[in-house]
Amino acid sequence: MQVNEPAGQNLFDDAKVVGKPSPRIDGPLKVTGTAPYAYERHDAVEGQLYGYPVLATIAKGTILAMDTEAAMAMPGVIDVITAPDVGQMPEPISWNVAPLFGGDAVAHYHQAIAVVVAETFEQARAAAALVETNYDAEELGNLDLGAAWEEVREDRTDASRVGDFKAAFDAAPVTIDRTYSTPSHSHAMMEPPATIAHWEDGKLTIWTSNQMIEWARRSLATTFEMDEADVRVDSPFIGGGFGTKLVLRSDAIMAAQAARRIGRPVKVAMPRPMVMNNTSHRASTIQRIRIGAGQDGRITAIAHEAIAHAMDGGRGENAIAQTRDFYAGANRLVKLHLARMTLPEENAMRAPGEASGLMALEIAMDEMAEALGMDPVQFRILNDTQVHPGDGRPFSDRHFVECLERGAEAFGWADRNTTPGGLTEGDWLIGHGVAGAYRGGPATGSGARLTLTPEGRVIVETSMTDIGTGSYTILAQTAAEVMGVTVAEIEVRLGDSAFPASSGSGGQWGAASSTAGVYAAAVALREAIADHMGRDVDSLTFEGGSVRTPDKQVPLAGLSPEPIVAEDSIAFGDYRREQVVSTFGAHFVEVGVNRYTGETRVRRMLAVCDAGRILNPITARSQVIGGMVMGVGAALMEDAAIDTGRGMFPAHDLAGYEVPVHADIPAQEVIFLDTVDPVSSPLNAKGVGELGLCGVAAAVANAITNATGIRQRDYPVTLDRFLDRMPAT
Ligand code: MOS
Repeated sequence: MQVNEPAGQNLFDDAKVVGKPSPRIDGPLKVTGTAPYAYERHDAVEGQLYGYPVLATIAKGTILAMDTEAAMAMPGVIDVITAPDVGQMPEPISWNVAPLFGGDAVAHYHQAIAVVVAETFEQARAAAALVETNYDAEELGNLDLGAAWEEVREDRTDASRVGDFKAAFDAAPVTIDRTYSTPSHSHAMMEPPATIAHWEDGKLTIWTSNQMIEWARRSLATTFEMDEADVRVDSPFIGGGFGTKLVLRSDAIMAAQAARRIGRPVKVAMPRPMVMNNTSHRASTIQRIRIGAGQDGRITAIAHEAIAHAMDGGRGENAIAQTRDFYAGANRLVKLHLARMTLPEENAMRAPGEASGLMALEIAMDEMAEALGMDPVQFRILNDTQVHPGDGRPFSDRHFVECLERGAEAFGWADRNTTPGGLTEGDWLIGHGVAGAYRGGPATGSGARLTLTPEGRVIVETSMTDIGTGSYTILAQTAAEVMGVTVAEIEVRLGDSAFPASSGSGGQWGAASSTAGVYAAAVALREAIADHMGRDVDSLTFEGGSVRTPDKQVPLAGLSPEPIVAEDSIAFGDYRREQVVSTFGAHFVEVGVNRYTGETRVRRMLAVCDAGRILNPITARSQVIGGMVMGVGAALMEDAAIDTGRGMFPAHDLAGYEVPVHADIPAQEVIFLDTVDPVSSPLNAKGVGELGLCGVAAAVANAITNATGIRQRDYPVTLDRFLDRMPAT
């Protein structure tokens, strides 16, 4: 189905299933521990061996020699496959940056350099400890982002410009010029990367944990120089990815190499302490923001310049992304600098760009409101725009002002204390903060196959993934809506490259794209059923598990003795680019800061989200509250500090890398505007999984400022940064 214009009236306008609360259909599998995650696919293939990784202990250099003799002599060991032995292989396509496995060059600390394969996990792990490696280590170069920033901060070559920022900023009666910093972040997903690989007749199958089945398949075909048709990737359940599983990781390459060489299936999981440095992270940033406004509060000039660290070939962290698009202002300048550093791979992490960028921009907006003596909600409302401030294209559906107004109303913003440090409750200074949220609303091609069984059930098959987001459920709802059956009559099968190619999960494009793909296939199935009945599809109504014709009603069960199968995909024409399709939100946070210890406790949070039609308020809410939790982590605790001597992140588990726990998150509320965005997709829907994170950390930081009167510009906002400046008590 080719979509070349905004959606008109369609069956989703008076939907019975889509848009209604529908519990997660994969929930029972998850809470009973029976959802088949990659490492537990014991039944997928017989005779699985265990591989344990050996990782580089230098950050840069060359492997001179590897001694595997002692490891090979250990009980149960089948083989030790080393990267120099394997040799340089073609690198995967798509978004991979760091080399995964092969050759003698080391590009980052904890790069995979060998895999020890044994009959049991314990045997493999014990033997792996005996592999000795000699390196020729190279100098790391500069690993200090602050020093790199000082060198480039005045360089505006190739900056993106609208109007004349400098003239407008110099002329503005009210200005701020502030610098912020965000540390590196780890995805810290629950399920570490894991793969079981198996070769048969020159064909490769991997059972793995990956967000993008098509990318993974193409990458394996490229790396092993095979036909894509001879590679199968299966990933039906994924315990979180947040971007690090957008691409193939070294577990898949090691498992496939070992399985090919040994001639038996091999499984490899990346142990938790190895995940942080072997896979990817969100790069740290320094961000300078200048805003100029008239006395009326209207922004006339805005500049956002940032630096992020990046490895060779990497894209850093595009912290300036939202500043091109979000707020009004005729004169604009943005520029991202990259500081090439010998560190593990920086790459996409949930809302790459905006998550870090809004941590700074939304404090700057608060500071600007303060400089103007305006309410921070009013200041944002005043600077809303319905057209892109750079190129003038209209936003397809933008209700940012309504997010702020409804949020302020629901949160009790008008009653807040406006004198910092002026509201106390026992030992606690109470503060309130707000932030705006902005993230794109992309959609991309996606396919599916639908089968009507003789029993009247409908099977949905697509390579779409469910990374904890609720894909199973919203795809079942979509198919149920079009076929006129209940969700209970739908069976959804995901994550297998044997199924029609999908959008995959990333960049919050998954929900809009994959539901549109299932819609296309369901329309095709309706047509196939009409053909089978010898009727014109337009004369049929699919309702209540039956097909109604003008003269009779035929139950889907028993309609055909053979399965009826239909396949189609959605494709979006250029029309989508004529408007700016994005999602918007407003976050409100109340904190208490202990007046003696400086400890910050989040007391309540509210998100108001504008993301088109909400396909399922239960799963969408889960996405948003999860993002809000991640935002609290970014505000208060998450800090992948860099060991500048070794070029690595020493915090390598959930003890050293702190994330919020339940006790940190007492109360969350989410309001969806639930509008329709016909430009986005036939379902009028957009993603929400990244929006929920955007802006949250700044709302927390702004609340701390409101509580204490102390402005924080460096994350995480830990008490050591401001304890000595706390109000006298
Ligand atoms: Mo997302 S960072 O594209 O998984």
